[in-house]
Amino acid sequence: MAEVANTGVMQGWGALQRDNPWPEFEWGSVESFSLALDGGGRHLVTDKIKENPDGILVEIGTFLGGSAIRWLNASDRLRVIGVDPWGGNWGPYVEQMKTHPSFLKHLPEGRDILEIASAIRKHGNFCIALNNLRKFKDRFIPVRQKSPDVFDDLKRRGIKPDIIYIDAFKTPEDLDAAFAAFPNAVLCGDDWDWRNEEGVFQMRDNVNRFSQKHRKEVVAVGATWLLK
Ligand SMILES: C[S@@+](CC[C@H](N)C(=O)[O-])C[C@H]1O[C@@H](n2cnc3c(N)ncnc32)[C@H](O)[C@@H]1O
Repeated sequence: MAEVANTGVMQGWGALQRDNPWPEFEWGSVESFSLALDGGGRHLVTDKIKENPDGILVEIGTFLGGSAIRWLNASDRLRVIGVDPWGGNWGPYVEQMKTHPSFLKHLPEGRDILEIASAIRKHGNFCIALNNLRKFKDRFIPVRQKSPDVFDDLKRRGIKPDIIYIDAFKTPEDLDAAFAAFPNAVLCGDDWDWRNEEGVFQMRDNVNRFSQKHRKEVVAVGATWLLK
């Protein structure tokens, strides 16, 4: 198991947990939900988790917790560090998704998108995301920071992730910084099939450039990619 190095006061999982507390919230006052923005292929990641069920996964871009819930359910000993600024308020964004079938298909059965949007408007992104993750409080640390800076911070703290899953804003820096800090971690992520307005597969291009530079093999299924 890749543990945390125990070399000082500010080091390790416990200190990270202490410095990134969960918000105060009336847990249970809002029904939790799993809005998994799953474009396919996430078994590539859960297979890796099952190979190392005691590991640490760092997720860049946790949003409302849908993918993090999937990782945490793949092993009851996995620990997840969810990195997301959880900035602004996504209520209006989620509300306008009421007419987008591609978003609505991820909505859990029986849940109303307007009710979810209204809970986000009222309580904010951070509380609603963590309310969704509340049963994993011992194994999930929310880190309100941004990639790529967060990798150096985690490294300074002696955290050694086994898997880094990137699902943020599709910039090449995320991959470079993750690899520079944690060359032994499995790098994987989302957006393999996502195209920008010019029709460019932005994340796929980043991953392919990176894999050529570092002579790694890419496996991709649906929206998910993983570097071997
Ligand atoms: C597509 S959503 C993530 C979806 C989530 N992984 C899921 O499948 O449920 C993208 C998220 O990335 C976050 N984000 C954007 N830039 C980021 C950065 N530089 N570092 C960390 N998170 C970032 C956004 O706040 C947003 O919540």
